[in-house]
Amino acid sequence: MALDDLYRRVIMDHYKNPRNRGSFEGEVVTVNLNNPSCGDRITIQLKMETGIVSDAKFQGEGCSISLSSASMMTDAVKGKTLEEATLMAENFSCMMRGVEHADFEYEDLEALSGVNKFPARIKCATLAWNAMRKGIEKSE
Ligand code: FES
Repeated sequence: MALDDLYRRVIMDHYKNPRNRGSFEGEVVTVNLNNPSCGDRITIQLKMETGIVSDAKFQGEGCSISLSSASMMTDAVKGKTLEEATLMAENFSCMMRGVEHADFEYEDLEALSGVNKFPARIKCATLAWNAMRKGIEKSE
């Protein structure tokens, strides 16, 4: 299978079977963001425990890129320290700019690497990550 096809399958799998979709009760950090170019919106919730993102969920409406990215981000960030999660967001941002980036421990994220060829879609892919970063800033 060509790499593009594999990546497309990974993206569609996260879109159709989103991981961590929903919301938490209780004490969590919540961030709402929207993509100004299309009006789509996303809500990210992070559970923090002693400097670690212990759990993450998302809700919202958006395209396959934004929702699959949110699904992957909420999975990838679980169990990471706030610093590791922030570094991961920076690494993702490098991938979106087409500059060299470290390999992701959560390999599905590579499926979004092709988005950097479509500038209009970069905002879709980075929406959840920007929300996660804001959530970490809020908690500090
Ligand atoms: Fe709206 Fe992608 S088109 S988030």
